[in-house]
Amino acid sequence: MTSYRVRALPGLPEVRPGDDLAKLIVAAGPGLVDGDVLLVTSKIVSKAEGRILAATDREAAIDAETVRVVARRGPLRIVENKQGLVMAAAGVDASNTAAGTVLLLPEDSDASARTIREGLRDALGVDVGVIVTDTFGRPWRNGLTDVAIGAAGVRVLEDLRGGTDAQGNPLNATVIALADELAAAGDLVKGKAEGLPVAVVSGLGHLVGDTDTDARAMVRVAADDMFRLGTSEAVREAVTQRRTVREFTDEPVDPGAVRRAVTAAVTAPAPHHTTPWRFVLLESPESRLRLLDAMRDAWIADLRRDGKSEESIAKRVRRGDLLRKAPYLVVPCLVTDGSHTYGDARRDGAEREMFVVAMGAGVQNFLVALAGERLGSAWVSSTMFCREVVRDVLDLPEGWDPMGAVAVGHAAAPPRDRPARSPESFLTVR
Ligand SMILES: Cc1cc2nc3c(=O)[nH]c(=O)nc-3n(C[C@H](O)[C@H](O)[C@H](O)COP(=O)(O)O)c2cc1C
Repeated sequence: MTSYRVRALPGLPEVRPGDDLAKLIVAAGPGLVDGDVLLVTSKIVSKAEGRILAATDREAAIDAETVRVVARRGPLRIVENKQGLVMAAAGVDASNTAAGTVLLLPEDSDASARTIREGLRDALGVDVGVIVTDTFGRPWRNGLTDVAIGAAGVRVLEDLRGGTDAQGNPLNATVIALADELAAAGDLVKGKAEGLPVAVVSGLGHLVGDTDTDARAMVRVAADDMFRLGTSEAVREAVTQRRTVREFTDEPVDPGAVRRAVTAAVTAPAPHHTTPWRFVLLESPESRLRLLDAMRDAWIADLRRDGKSEESIAKRVRRGDLLRKAPYLVVPCLVTDGSHTYGDARRDGAEREMFVVAMGAGVQNFLVALAGERLGSAWVSSTMFCREVVRDVLDLPEGWDPMGAVAVGHAAAPPRDRPARSPESFLTVR
């Protein structure tokens, strides 16, 4: 039977800046043998490496360690730090350190682990693995646990993909977080308050040896991260992610994603408890072509009536191919059958405007929800200028007013960066 033993290492003194941790561990008489794994609390590594700051700087220290805010609730900040770790307050810690000081995480915990491993090999001639640990909270789970933030000489991940389970079923996604499991095992005997910052796991020598992977490999890369942001942050980012996309790839649009976006769209505010939004989905190439050809003819007729030359008409018409190149089109329509009639131009005009702005809210919801589905969109006006033609070609009821067209697809390129607009330019406070 496989088994392992885990024990805390007593006898370590209070660690000070400049201390050699391997020497302190050796002096404590650790009884190490080849194949042991040391779980070393990052706090003592930080202290030895002089990663101590005056506590007056705590917020500034968190700022300096932060590369990305993942979530913020009041004073609590979950951030990604320079090492790619996502954690509260960037790991800037005020516990177990002298009053008035805070500890930063080691700058490179993998390098710290390597230094300790080499120091122990030099002093004792043993081949041990070293894991630098820190205590993390986790999304979805209550309670904290230790995880590996640095490692040397020990396998950090066990990739079982491509193998089979005991029943012969293929394992498609199973990569075991060995180093985190070891860190958690160490935490069971270290405790926070007892001054036992190092634990030793024995009996798992098959995990120990020279290895290329360090704990950095345990950080999930952004492209594979389905939970990049906290909920509030994701909602806000969805709004700013909607940008007009004018060029699309050939990748088809998932009709289910469009329906989910319509579900979000029709939660928009609207007057008199009405639901004035309709979305005409042009899912066949024929329907799109028929509409675009008819709109082009109507546009040419408008331009001829304006007295434009055939040459200038041809030039303009050639430019308008954004909708033609899109893999999917939606025609949002406004129905105002719930509107009131007052009989005077001022109030009837205001009534119509109410419905038009409600339509805008619905379309904006739609575009934001599409962005959430990672679909780009461009809302353009053309169908508003030839409503009769659009109704006719798409066989829509008389009361449906086309409110432009939305091109939908996968963006061919990310949108050009646009600096955030200062709210002050848009505000008047009374
Ligand atoms: C009602 C409406 C009509 C629009 N018509 C067109 C259009 O005909 N062609 C176009 O390229 N963009 C059109 N746009 C998109 C705007 O040009 C775009 O929203 C603006 O440049 C801001 O860029 P953003 O959407 O990336 O924030 C329209 C937008 C709205 C709201």
